[in-house]
Amino acid sequence: MNVITVNDEQEMSVRGSLILFDEIKRNPELVLGVATGGTPAGTYEHLVDKVLNEKLDLSKVTTVNLDEYVGLARDHEESYWRYIYEHLYEPLNLLPDRALVPDGLSEDLQAECLRYEKVIEQADGVDLQILGVGRNGHIGFNEPGTSFESKTHVVDLTESTREANARFFERKEEVPTQAITVGISTIMKSRSILLLASGPEKSEAVHALLSGRIDQNWPVTVLNEHPSVTLIVTKDALEKGEEDSNDQ
Ligand code: F6R
Repeated sequence: MNVITVNDEQEMSVRGSLILFDEIKRNPELVLGVATGGTPAGTYEHLVDKVLNEKLDLSKVTTVNLDEYVGLARDHEESYWRYIYEHLYEPLNLLPDRALVPDGLSEDLQAECLRYEKVIEQADGVDLQILGVGRNGHIGFNEPGTSFESKTHVVDLTESTREANARFFERKEEVPTQAITVGISTIMKSRSILLLASGPEKSEAVHALLSGRIDQNWPVTVLNEHPSVTLIVTKDALEKGEEDSNDQ
């Protein structure tokens, strides 16, 4: 694993955006796996600025969302379809016709998971997967305990994940209880992975990963088995929290 330590979230975002920019420049038809949430937002912002400044053509890039909430329509303010539209397609003035996102409103969620898995296969898999990590170590919405063999599936979100995501909604009760997520085995098929982690609340997950162990209770640790992972991590996400040091 290539570990890049940075001072803060701003530096993480700039470094992340440069990696994305270079990859798209090298392969204008890149299939980019996209995470949503707080962590990659700055990376997308810097990427958009650089793409506009340098007039890079993103019209042939395909984006593959990692997940989507069950029960939210595309145009819901907190849907992940809307997130990727607002963070990439809208500011770049691109039609979202290459934005692949699971349909959280599907009446047959199992069929939708199978369809999405096929869509990824038909795109010939993900070239570069951007990941954030949950405080409990989840990647995508693969919560602790998820099989490493999993493909796209429906998950019940844990209370800790719903609490963490409540900041994006008016009330915690509005956070959906389920999501469709790309599975761990599908994530592992990505040709390369860029993992971003910032903030002390991520330090336990980052430490589990950097311990080198592989532990189903910390899904992020599966990345120790992937041949091409870059982790950009802020100093505060590397530092052990006070509770941890008190334990010693
Ligand atoms: C979102 C996703 C999640 C987030 C994780 C961290 O598409 O797949 O795994 O990356 O929940 O969220 P933030 O970045 O908001 O701390």
